Amino acid sequence: MTPVTNRTFTMIKPDAVRSGNIGNILQDILAAGFQLKALKYTQLSEQDAQKFYTVHKERPFFGELVDFMSSGPIVAAVLEKDDAVNAFRTLIGATNPADAAEGTIRKKYAQSVGENSIHGSDSDENAMIEASFFFSGREIL
Ligand code: RTP
Ligand code: MG
Repeated sequence: MTPVTNRTFTMIKPDAVRSGNIGNILQDILAAGFQLKALKYTQLSEQDAQKFYTVHKERPFFGELVDFMSSGPIVAAVLEKDDAVNAFRTLIGATNPADAAEGTIRKKYAQSVGENSIHGSDSDENAMIEASFFFSGREIL
Protein backbone atom coordinates (compact mmCIF):
# COMPACT_ATOMS: atom_id res chain seq x y z
CA MET A 1 0.00 0.00 0.00
CA THR A 2 1.17 3.56 -0.73
CA PRO A 3 1.49 5.72 2.38
CA VAL A 4 -1.12 8.49 2.52
CA THR A 5 -0.08 12.06 3.35
CA ASN A 6 -3.18 12.93 5.38
CA ARG A 7 -2.73 10.48 8.27
CA THR A 8 -0.38 10.20 11.21
CA PHE A 9 -0.05 8.02 14.28
CA THR A 10 0.31 9.19 17.88
CA MET A 11 0.69 7.84 21.39
CA ILE A 12 -0.07 9.76 24.55
CA LYS A 13 2.87 8.48 26.62
CA PRO A 14 2.76 7.03 30.17
CA ASP A 15 3.83 10.31 31.85
CA ALA A 16 0.89 12.22 30.38
CA VAL A 17 -1.54 9.41 31.25
CA ARG A 18 -0.20 9.39 34.85
CA SER A 19 -0.52 13.17 35.16
CA GLY A 20 -4.18 13.01 34.09
CA ASN A 21 -3.76 14.77 30.77
CA ILE A 22 -5.40 12.34 28.32
CA GLY A 23 -8.47 14.56 28.03
CA ASN A 24 -6.53 17.81 27.71
CA ILE A 25 -4.25 16.41 25.02
CA LEU A 26 -7.08 14.88 22.98
CA GLN A 27 -8.87 18.23 23.23
CA ASP A 28 -5.78 20.07 21.90
CA ILE A 29 -5.44 17.56 19.05
CA LEU A 30 -9.09 17.92 18.01
CA ALA A 31 -9.01 21.71 18.41
CA ALA A 32 -6.05 21.78 15.99
CA GLY A 33 -8.28 20.22 13.34
CA PHE A 34 -7.24 16.57 13.47
CA GLN A 35 -9.95 13.94 13.12
CA LEU A 36 -9.79 10.66 15.03
CA LYS A 37 -9.63 7.60 12.78
CA ALA A 38 -8.76 5.08 15.53
CA LEU A 39 -8.30 5.25 19.32
CA LYS A 40 -7.09 2.72 21.91
CA TYR A 41 -6.12 2.71 25.64
CA THR A 42 -3.51 0.02 26.12
CA GLN A 43 -0.08 -0.81 27.55
CA LEU A 44 3.11 -1.85 25.77
CA SER A 45 5.01 -4.85 27.11
CA GLU A 46 8.79 -4.48 27.25
CA GLN A 47 8.99 -6.56 24.06
CA ASP A 48 6.38 -4.39 22.33
CA ALA A 49 8.33 -1.24 23.20
CA GLN A 50 11.60 -2.76 21.95
CA LYS A 51 9.89 -3.64 18.68
CA PHE A 52 8.13 -0.30 18.27
CA TYR A 53 11.36 1.68 18.85
CA THR A 54 13.70 -0.75 17.08
CA VAL A 55 15.09 2.12 14.91
CA HIS A 56 16.58 3.55 18.12
CA LYS A 57 18.11 0.29 19.41
CA GLU A 58 21.71 1.51 19.06
CA ARG A 59 21.02 4.84 20.79
CA PRO A 60 22.31 5.32 24.37
CA PHE A 61 18.79 6.10 25.64
CA PHE A 62 17.17 2.94 24.20
CA GLY A 63 16.95 1.03 27.51
CA GLU A 64 15.45 4.00 29.32
CA LEU A 65 13.01 4.60 26.46
CA VAL A 66 11.81 0.99 26.51
CA ASP A 67 11.44 0.97 30.32
CA PHE A 68 9.53 4.23 30.27
CA MET A 69 7.23 3.38 27.36
CA SER A 70 6.25 0.08 28.98
CA SER A 71 5.88 1.61 32.48
CA GLY A 72 2.15 2.29 32.26
CA PRO A 73 -0.86 2.70 29.99
CA ILE A 74 -0.73 4.78 26.82
CA VAL A 75 -3.33 6.03 24.36
CA ALA A 76 -2.69 5.15 20.71
CA ALA A 77 -4.50 6.95 17.90
CA VAL A 78 -4.61 7.41 14.15
CA LEU A 79 -5.30 11.00 13.12
CA GLU A 80 -6.30 12.65 9.87
CA LYS A 81 -5.59 16.14 8.57
CA ASP A 82 -3.95 17.63 5.47
CA ASP A 83 -0.16 17.17 5.67
CA ALA A 84 -0.79 15.25 8.89
CA VAL A 85 2.77 14.17 9.77
CA ASN A 86 4.23 17.67 9.56
CA ALA A 87 1.20 19.43 11.04
CA PHE A 88 1.20 17.06 14.00
CA ARG A 89 4.92 17.41 14.71
CA THR A 90 4.39 21.18 14.76
CA LEU A 91 1.53 20.74 17.24
CA ILE A 92 3.56 18.54 19.61
CA GLY A 93 6.76 20.63 19.52
CA ALA A 94 10.45 19.75 19.86
CA THR A 95 11.54 16.41 21.36
CA ASN A 96 12.94 18.23 24.40
CA PRO A 97 10.07 20.15 26.03
CA ALA A 98 12.58 22.81 27.14
CA ASP A 99 13.07 23.64 23.44
CA ALA A 100 9.41 23.25 22.46
CA ALA A 101 7.50 26.32 21.24
CA GLU A 102 4.93 28.00 23.47
CA GLY A 103 1.49 26.39 23.20
CA THR A 104 2.76 23.04 21.92
CA ILE A 105 1.69 19.84 23.64
CA ARG A 106 5.18 19.02 24.90
CA LYS A 107 5.64 22.56 26.21
CA LYS A 108 2.33 22.37 28.06
CA TYR A 109 2.46 18.87 29.52
CA ALA A 110 5.94 17.31 29.31
CA GLN A 111 8.67 17.26 31.97
CA SER A 112 11.81 16.04 30.18
CA VAL A 113 13.29 14.80 26.90
CA GLY A 114 12.76 11.22 28.05
CA GLU A 115 9.25 11.71 29.41
CA ASN A 116 7.89 13.98 26.71
CA SER A 117 4.18 13.14 26.86
CA ILE A 118 3.48 12.36 23.22
CA HIS A 119 4.74 10.59 20.12
CA GLY A 120 4.24 11.69 16.52
CA SER A 121 5.26 9.70 13.43
CA ASP A 122 8.16 11.16 11.45
CA SER A 123 7.06 10.11 7.93
CA ASP A 124 4.02 8.87 6.03
CA GLU A 125 5.63 5.46 5.73
CA ASN A 126 6.29 5.18 9.47
CA ALA A 127 2.80 6.48 10.26
CA MET A 128 1.36 3.51 8.38
CA ILE A 129 3.77 1.00 9.96
CA GLU A 130 3.10 2.37 13.46
CA ALA A 131 -0.69 2.45 12.99
CA SER A 132 -0.56 -1.21 11.90
CA PHE A 133 1.39 -2.04 15.07
CA PHE A 134 -1.68 -1.13 17.18
CA PHE A 135 -4.72 -1.36 14.91
CA SER A 136 -6.19 -3.86 12.49
CA GLY A 137 -7.66 -2.54 9.24
CA ARG A 138 -11.19 -2.82 10.69
CA GLU A 139 -10.23 -0.60 13.65
CA ILE A 140 -9.20 2.33 11.46
CA LEU A 141 -12.30 4.17 10.26
P1 RTP B 1 8.79 10.53 19.11
O1 RTP B 1 9.37 9.55 18.13
O2 RTP B 1 8.49 9.92 20.46
O3 RTP B 1 7.63 11.29 18.55
O4 RTP B 1 9.89 11.64 19.42
P2 RTP B 1 10.82 12.41 18.41
O5 RTP B 1 10.61 11.95 17.01
O6 RTP B 1 10.66 13.86 18.70
O7 RTP B 1 12.25 11.96 18.91
P3 RTP B 1 13.11 10.65 18.50
O8 RTP B 1 14.44 11.14 18.09
O9 RTP B 1 12.32 9.80 17.55
O10 RTP B 1 13.27 9.92 19.89
C1 RTP B 1 12.28 9.03 20.34
C2 RTP B 1 12.05 9.22 21.82
O11 RTP B 1 13.20 8.82 22.53
C3 RTP B 1 13.32 9.60 23.71
N1 RTP B 1 14.60 10.28 23.73
N2 RTP B 1 15.33 10.36 24.79
N3 RTP B 1 17.40 10.92 26.62
C4 RTP B 1 17.50 11.38 25.38
O12 RTP B 1 18.42 12.04 24.99
C5 RTP B 1 16.42 11.06 24.45
N4 RTP B 1 16.36 11.40 23.17
C6 RTP B 1 15.20 10.89 22.70
C7 RTP B 1 12.20 10.61 23.71
O13 RTP B 1 11.11 10.10 24.46
C8 RTP B 1 11.83 10.67 22.23
O14 RTP B 1 10.51 11.12 22.07
MG1 MG C 1 10.57 9.88 16.45
